[in-house]
Amino acid sequence: MSNSSAPILHLTTAALLFVLFSAASATDHIVGANKGWNPGINYTLWANNHTFYVGDFISFRYQKAQYNVFEVNKTGYDNCTTEGATGNWSSGKDFIPLNKAMRYYFICGTGGCFNGMKVSVLVHHLPSPPRSSMAVEHSSDGTTTHGGSGLVGVVLGLFLSFWFGLGLGV
Ligand SMILES: *[C@@H]1O[C@H](CO)[C@@H](O)[C@H](O)[C@H]1NC(C)=O
Ligand SMILES: *[C@@H]1O[C@H](CO)[C@@H](O)[C@H](O)[C@H]1NC(C)=O
Ligand SMILES: *[C@@H]1O[C@H](CO)[C@@H](O)[C@H](O)[C@H]1NC(C)=O
Ligand SMILES: *[C@@H]1O[C@H](CO)[C@@H](O)[C@H](O)[C@H]1NC(C)=O
Ligand SMILES: *[C@@H]1O[C@H](CO)[C@@H](O)[C@H](O)[C@H]1NC(C)=O
Repeated sequence: MSNSSAPILHLTTAALLFVLFSAASATDHIVGANKGWNPGINYTLWANNHTFYVGDFISFRYQKAQYNVFEVNKTGYDNCTTEGATGNWSSGKDFIPLNKAMRYYFICGTGGCFNGMKVSVLVHHLPSPPRSSMAVEHSSDGTTTHGGSGLVGVVLGLFLSFWFGLGLGV
């Protein structure tokens, strides 16, 4: 390799790393955004403002001495009961993976559920064709969204065109 091709190699390496990073990342939906997991908040409004995909995370932030998080079914959600719960978390900063395309129900098991600490989210299959490259949704309300697969395609295209350019140039 001549010295003149080195910058191109650096670029392609950077592009490849970016592709790998983008493909591996997912959205973390912070429940209640900056209000967190607390009484007196309508989490239906919060959930309606977000789109959840398989592989995303939902995270709960709260005072761990006061509250917690239980994953329950619809009955548990409607009646604020934790019987038969399929999961529970109490770290005060819980990251929960949404691995299946289904409706999830989470409630607070210390009584907060009766004051609105319940949230239900519908998780969708990853869309196909890929999401838009401008996948910057809800960034102002505490959600972090990383590059969508559309962007991955653009970067992959750049990556390939660098290699073709390199091949033609030699
Ligand atoms: C929360 O908002 C939804 C949508 O506007 C509404 O249907 C629901 O009744 C509200 N829940 C409470 C507890 O106020
Ligand atoms: C849930 O609560 C409703 C009304 O409070 C009650 O009629 C129903 O039997 C309860 N369901 C269960 C499964 O406990
Ligand atoms: C939820 O789980 C409880 C306890 O296991 C069970 O009695 C109830 O039938 C379930 N409700 C639904 C809608 O699956
Ligand atoms: C919480 O989850 C653990 C397993 O992670 C389980 O052993 C425990 O019984 C659960 N607690 C309640 C109150 O459901
Ligand atoms: C919904 O999202 C918009 C835009 O990010 C934000 O301004 C608004 O406060 C959100 N509403 C709720 C209820 O989270």
